[in-house]
Amino acid sequence: MNCSQFATTMRSAFSLHHFNSPRLSRHVSNVSASLQPQGQGTDTPPRIGFLGLGIMGTPMALNLIKAGVDLTVWNRTKSKCDPLISLGAKYKPSPEEVAASCDLTFAMLADPQSAVDVACGKHGVANGIGPGKGYVDVSTVDVDTSKLINGHIKSTGALFLEAPVSGSKKPAEDGQLIFLTAGDRNLYETVAPFLDIMGKSKFYLGDVGNGAAMKLVVNMIMGSMMASFSEGLLLSEKVGLDPKVLVEVFSYY
Ligand SMILES: NC(=O)c1ccc[n+]([C@@H]2O[C@H](COP(=O)([O-])OP(=O)(O)OC[C@H]3O[C@@H](n4cnc5c(N)ncnc54)[C@H](OP(=O)(O)O)[C@@H]3O)[C@@H](O)[C@H]2O)c1
Repeated sequence: MNCSQFATTMRSAFSLHHFNSPRLSRHVSNVSASLQPQGQGTDTPPRIGFLGLGIMGTPMALNLIKAGVDLTVWNRTKSKCDPLISLGAKYKPSPEEVAASCDLTFAMLADPQSAVDVACGKHGVANGIGPGKGYVDVSTVDVDTSKLINGHIKSTGALFLEAPVSGSKKPAEDGQLIFLTAGDRNLYETVAPFLDIMGKSKFYLGDVGNGAAMKLVVNMIMGSMMASFSEGLLLSEKVGLDPKVLVEVFSYY
């Protein structure tokens, strides 16, 4: 049983109800009405940027392309962009140029340092973004890092949303991620159709930092539950039960 299956079992066991959003790729064209890109009419589809094409970023970007989104990609290692370019994505050679050429830019980066480098560093997003644009960081970072990035982005006149994800490679491929968002409420409403393409649920949690904090708390709970479950598997073996049957029994709770 992997993490995703474990989470599914736990969710049904505890009857947690997520806000299950429909796949809203058909609404993508409506988003342009809520964005005001300079020099563009409201009937022009929004231009979306995606920075960071690793294990998570690549399938997320791929799902946007499959949904017909006008996507521009960048990755530190350029070769990871090539498969997406061959499927129709545009390419820019820096985060700055992606942010300058797009209305909304998503970033899925390894850790706090890379998230700060890409957002605030030389040729970073903050140099290319500005009023009428939005930046959505879906990386997992700590609260202070998210607030730091928020400050740099907001100082340009652009909007910021943190949106770390729960889920792993398979949910990313299947468009089944859970977004824990916080920051600018209008930007949340604007990017909702794109989150619905990449995920199955999304939560808006208020001020910047709350998404990062929620992600850490969720991870702590998941880790504790995984540890208890592992203890249960071992105990079942010790008392002569088949751990596979325990898993099956548990799946009905
Ligand atoms: N993997 C999971 O199951 C999972 C689940 C939930 C959340 N997350 C979170 O999602 C984020 C991405 O995870 P991942 O698994 O996709 O990681 P990954 O496969 O290691 O990809 C990391 C990405 O960050 C880029 N990067 C690293 N350092 C950089 C730097 N200094 N400057 C610019 N770009 C840099 C990498 O570029 P290169 O290609 O050039 O190395 C790559 O695009 C992390 O915050 C992680 O905690 C992961």
